[in-house]
Amino acid sequence: MDRRPGLSIRLKLTLSYAGFLTLAGALLLVAMGVFLLRSGWLRTNESGAVRENPVIQFVRAFVPTAAAVMVFLLVFGLVGGWFLAGRMLAPLDRITHATRTVADGSLSHRIRLPGREDEFRELADAFDMMLAQLEAHVAEQRRFAANASHELRTPLAISKTLIDVARADPNHDTGELVDRLHTVNTRAIDLTEALLLLSRANQRSFTREHVDLSLVAEEAAETLHPLADKHGVTLETSGDIAPTTGSPALLLQLITNLVHNAIVHNVPREGTVRVHTGVRPRTVVLTVENTGERLTPQLVATLTEPFQRGTERTHADQAGVGLGLAIVKTITEAHDGTLTLTPRRAGGLRITVELPAASGA
Ligand SMILES: Nc1ncnc2c1ncn2[C@@H]1O[C@H](COP(=O)(O)OP(=O)(O)OP(=O)(O)O)[C@@H](O)[C@H]1O
Ligand SMILES: [Mg+2]
Repeated sequence: MDRRPGLSIRLKLTLSYAGFLTLAGALLLVAMGVFLLRSGWLRTNESGAVRENPVIQFVRAFVPTAAAVMVFLLVFGLVGGWFLAGRMLAPLDRITHATRTVADGSLSHRIRLPGREDEFRELADAFDMMLAQLEAHVAEQRRFAANASHELRTPLAISKTLIDVARADPNHDTGELVDRLHTVNTRAIDLTEALLLLSRANQRSFTREHVDLSLVAEEAAETLHPLADKHGVTLETSGDIAPTTGSPALLLQLITNLVHNAIVHNVPREGTVRVHTGVRPRTVVLTVENTGERLTPQLVATLTEPFQRGTERTHADQAGVGLGLAIVKTITEAHDGTLTLTPRRAGGLRITVELPAASGA
């Protein structure tokens, strides 16, 4: 940024120190002069033989010394002030240096200001903390971009292989080719739509409306009933009216993703899914609980990361893109809520989403 040149803080501080010291010295000398003039010092001299005006006599004797003292104070103030200001401002140099290093792209740099707690230390620590968060965030974004590109490349590469094989063999069954291309294409579209949804929820640019979570949960359950039947899963919804504010479309997506997961990542036979809504003093809570494989807390902690798929032995037709829970997390955060995943002892998961209750509820 271009700015007009100005005095450095060090110089300003030095001038202030020296100025104050000189002013204080001058006041002291004036006070001393007045005091001496009025006191006996003058009178004792009055009795002397010299006839010169005693005031002039006093001024002659006092002023040169006073002036010398003033000059000394000024020089002392300037030198001492320059030194002290330099010492006081040294941490600022370090912080500026760190900022420039970071601006050059080195996010791993830290100030690590030594010494006891003071205002500079507080600033440096806050800066270090901001850098750590920024670094983690950038790393996460990079990982996400790499994963997304990789995931998008897979269906495209499969399509290419299918087309190449069909081209090399003129007697190839085109019906089968079209079916397989259709499947691969659908998967690429699903993935792109999930990515778009994720970025939309991330932007928080939706309008907030009054939403009853229990109604949204019922709508999601109704839509997914056929899927539950297909998987032999019993789907139950229960609970109270749970009024909150947010985007009805995004909240429907959130509950749909959770219930969909609870159905497809369930036990092969006679699984159950329970969806419950409830109200707490300041929040509303949605719980989705399902039977399923046993999961370790370590694995569960990673499931909300984008493109993370928990179990390897998912069937090809139900293998998702691994964005369902990442979308749930982003939508929850965009609604200022909290998402908790807990493995159930008997297997399966319990997921709770806690959102702020609608004001006035
Ligand atoms: N209710 C659940 N019970 C057991 N495991 C689950 C449950 N929900 C998610 N998981 C595990 O977490 C992983 C990530 O879920 P997520 O919804 O993010 O991706 P996905 O279901 O694999 O794909 P999609 O993006 O199509 O939803 C799943 O692959 C599954 O292993
Ligand atoms: Mg899913």
